[in-house]
Amino acid sequence: MTVTIVGAQLGDEGKGGVVDLYSDEADVVARYQGGDNAGHTVIEDGTEYKLSLVPSGAVRGKVGVLGNGCVVNPRTLFDEIDDLRERGLDPDVRVARRAHVILPYHRVLDGIEEDVKSESDQEVGTTGRGIGPTYEDKAGRRGVRVGDLLDPDVLRERLEYVVPQKRALAEDVYGLDVDSLDDPEAFDIDALFEEYREFGRRLAENDMTVNAGEFLANTIGDGGNVMLEGAQGTIIDIDHGNYPYVTSSNPTAGGAATGTGLSPGVVGGGEVVGVVKAYLSRVGSGPMPTELGGVAGDTPGYDEQGENDEDLATYIREEGGEYGTVTGRPRRVGWLDVPMLRHAARASGFTGLAVNHLDVLAGMDEVKVGHSYDLDTGEQSSPGSQNAERSEGGEEIFTMPSTTEEWTRCEPNFRTFDGWEDADWAAVAADGYDAIPNGAREYLEYLSDELDTPIYAVGVGADRDETVVVERPY
Ligand code: GDP
Ligand code: IMO
Ligand code: MG
Repeated sequence: MTVTIVGAQLGDEGKGGVVDLYSDEADVVARYQGGDNAGHTVIEDGTEYKLSLVPSGAVRGKVGVLGNGCVVNPRTLFDEIDDLRERGLDPDVRVARRAHVILPYHRVLDGIEEDVKSESDQEVGTTGRGIGPTYEDKAGRRGVRVGDLLDPDVLRERLEYVVPQKRALAEDVYGLDVDSLDDPEAFDIDALFEEYREFGRRLAENDMTVNAGEFLANTIGDGGNVMLEGAQGTIIDIDHGNYPYVTSSNPTAGGAATGTGLSPGVVGGGEVVGVVKAYLSRVGSGPMPTELGGVAGDTPGYDEQGENDEDLATYIREEGGEYGTVTGRPRRVGWLDVPMLRHAARASGFTGLAVNHLDVLAGMDEVKVGHSYDLDTGEQSSPGSQNAERSEGGEEIFTMPSTTEEWTRCEPNFRTFDGWEDADWAAVAADGYDAIPNGAREYLEYLSDELDTPIYAVGVGADRDETVVVERPY
């Protein structure tokens, strides 16, 4: 069977830890979308691993697959495998021949487009890994696939078609001097051919490429268990997220079928675990109705709005370590947003919830959640929202609206819960669900009721052992 792990919010919900928790019973762990924009943390007995492309099952020695829905940067993939080897792991990673390759020009173009957008405050705050430009080329039918790296004639043909277009875009549209780049060979057909043919050789020599759908279906056919590891999160899904402040793939559960070649029936016949951070964090730009405080450069209108719950934001940020792993930039933080979670639960069909970071909220007098929104509708009544009721500030809605503009006009209606004390969380994890402090259990039960989904696991610390396991999905 399959267990699919999906981020319910804006990424960094603790998916890596949940994959690690349950992957002891998996035979294969497959990523189905995204690339090295992901950073998934696994902590085993105090030793921390930050995984970017290598599926998180590697810490338990499980076979990893990068499905056809992923975009793969061979430079960072091999660096990561080599680093993990030096740290004593032995990652066995197979890459779909249908997955697309991130080339150096994709990173350059990602950077330039963000620069241009920033002139009119429209930047997304991407990770700069070339994710969007690579998916654009996939959709534009000019991408280079992993299978193409295995055949030098095909690789050369693909590069000869696409590289002059990219060079013209960089030079003629964006006015870039490509020869003065940090990576001056990013637009050089011969240099790219040599480097990427060599990656193809390494992939072939180590028998690393697969037909992902066939490989995974055979694993299941032989009675094995497959885990499908989502990256990013529902609200940065290109279809179901907060467009244009999104990544360019489908982290929601539908992506697990299209991004691996397993059928929707197989994925839907298994379990889908939604990973929820007990509050909210966001990297990059876009609206965030329950935001506390703000981060200059990322929070829209931050400079005009001034201070707003700054102390609370700082407290949560410090307790939760909400700083970017690469840049050290503070992440935006806020209260749990329940309309967002109703939307996520519907889009992916969660069969269980893993709620993380309950420990981070401990010690506060009260904890709030955004239970619904008041959508300022102006004069018009909003079309298509069946469960809307009139309330003073506009229309009360219980799920996220479809446009970013409407979302910016949403004011949260908060519900307040009693806080809970700090605890010996390792002991709580060992003793089980009933050892969770009362206030925190009320919070969890509210969430489970609102989403009509049972709680499978509760994160009360970052280590593998600091999880209260309620259900095991396999
Ligand atoms: P992912 O991208 O969804 O895998 O999440 P990240 O690894 O980027 O971010 C989650 C961060 O929170 C990591 O530093 C984890 O070690 C940490 N973490 C995960 N679960 C918990 C939890 O329940 N409590 C605390 N305090 N930290 C957690
Ligand atoms: P994990 O898997 C949090 C965000 C970026 C940006 C937007 C688009 O660790 O949860 P991209 O580089 O993908 O084109 O950037 O998506 N983003 C993430 N935020 N966690 C992630 O991954 C993210 N991957 C991308 O900050 O706002
Ligand atoms: Mg992360």
